[in-house]
Amino acid sequence: MDTADPQERPAPLWSSLLKYREEGNLRLHMPGHAGGRGLPEAYFTLAELDLTEVPGIDDLHQPRSEIKEALRLMAQAYGARESFFLVNGASSGIHALFMSLPGERPPVLIPRNAHRSLWGGMVLSGAVPRYLSCAYDAQTGIPLALDPGVIGAELEANPELKAVFLTSPSYWGTSLDIAEMADKAHKRGAALLVDEAHGAHFAFHPAYPRPALSQGADAAVNGLHKTLPVLNQGACLHIGREYKDRNLLAAALSLITTTSPSFPLLASMDLARQFMQVKGYEYLDRAGRTAEKYRARIDQIPGMRVWNPSGDNDRYAAGQDPLKVTLHISGISLDGLQMADVLRREYRIQAELAQPDLIMFMMSFLHREDEWEWLHRALVEIAGKYGGTDRKTGVIPLIPCPRMVLSPRQAFRQERRRVKLKDSLGRLSGEMVAPYPPGIPCLLPGELIDAETLEYLWYIKQRGIYTQGPHDPALDYIMVLEETGKGQE
Ligand SMILES: Cc1ncc(COP(=O)(O)O)c(C=O)c1O
Repeated sequence: MDTADPQERPAPLWSSLLKYREEGNLRLHMPGHAGGRGLPEAYFTLAELDLTEVPGIDDLHQPRSEIKEALRLMAQAYGARESFFLVNGASSGIHALFMSLPGERPPVLIPRNAHRSLWGGMVLSGAVPRYLSCAYDAQTGIPLALDPGVIGAELEANPELKAVFLTSPSYWGTSLDIAEMADKAHKRGAALLVDEAHGAHFAFHPAYPRPALSQGADAAVNGLHKTLPVLNQGACLHIGREYKDRNLLAAALSLITTTSPSFPLLASMDLARQFMQVKGYEYLDRAGRTAEKYRARIDQIPGMRVWNPSGDNDRYAAGQDPLKVTLHISGISLDGLQMADVLRREYRIQAELAQPDLIMFMMSFLHREDEWEWLHRALVEIAGKYGGTDRKTGVIPLIPCPRMVLSPRQAFRQERRRVKLKDSLGRLSGEMVAPYPPGIPCLLPGELIDAETLEYLWYIKQRGIYTQGPHDPALDYIMVLEETGKGQE
């Protein structure tokens, strides 16, 4: 990776690790590999920099020097009042946000297209969700835009709401117009929190969807590892000027964060921030233009349509990350899963997501034009071999929004038992079912398995869609709650 002159754009955390390595110390401290011993050679460089809170290396739980400075630079880059490093992915930022809400059982408005990490946030905090069912595009299952008017009406009808928790961009890169919703939330004294896990790059180029924080969100969580050159698990939580309980948030984060964070992971975030400030605009600019060109070219391939929320589809989203390329492939005789398999075996291309009727490619701004061309060529060949059909794709059933009977924390503590899926109608679920990716739960513990939900579960089962949550991945059985009254708080 081409990084900038450290003098101009310092990466203080990374520099502190290099300095320690240069000193050639006898490492009589953690971690146990003492600089890489006992590990295969491929780990050496990483392990040499895998340090702990010795003098000269700062402490994530009490940042005073390099980490403090790296966080200051991070906040500056994102226009945040303050940023926090997360070493357990965006999920941990979401958990901490819920834990910092006021009160014992804070009510939160949550459009139901949220990632499964919201469940952990609610169990840990005791928050009680008020779910909003979402509309989805019938052909692709992509969540449609939220109407700010609906959010406003919910806030008005439920003045006890403490926060609104939005997901933008979606897993597919569609983004929301947050400003109006933030305004409505603030007028009612509620915080506007955004899971922006897939949008860490937006802040570095104006042609990409507008970052949540710049639209008035009180806090946003970025999964840096998803779209920036950052090691897995690296993420950031940013808060805006008006964020109410900064100290409680910091305490919640410290509570759920290991006291042995990975320094190579932390430093990769420091370096990525430096990279984005120095080269991000240039890379995103080039990637945006390349994406525009190839999105149009791929759209011309017979049998494939590129999902695009512009023009007639405006109502679908306020914006679209051009680097998420979703194809609807009803004119190809292969379904999405078969096509992903052919791409991998015959063209050495691994797609991000494959579903019966669509396939999604997650391009990075670091991919070169010849790599876009590689994908395009493969798709043209596949269309040539398997095209010319009109596969009946059918309508994707809508993700249900089941009725919550027990709050997440109550349900979490309840006894459960296994029943046949076909016998589960009318029972309260004892487990989460989240097709993965994208990880949006169609059922959570404490929710009623009604006819619509059961039908959706059958759909998942029959199509063999991969899920996280169920103890029986085949979904022949499902865990339900014992009917022993409410769980203990
Ligand atoms: C929208 C969304 N939010 C949050 C997460 C959780 O991110 P992480 O895996 O970094 O914990 C994901 C993960 O895929 C996601 O898609």
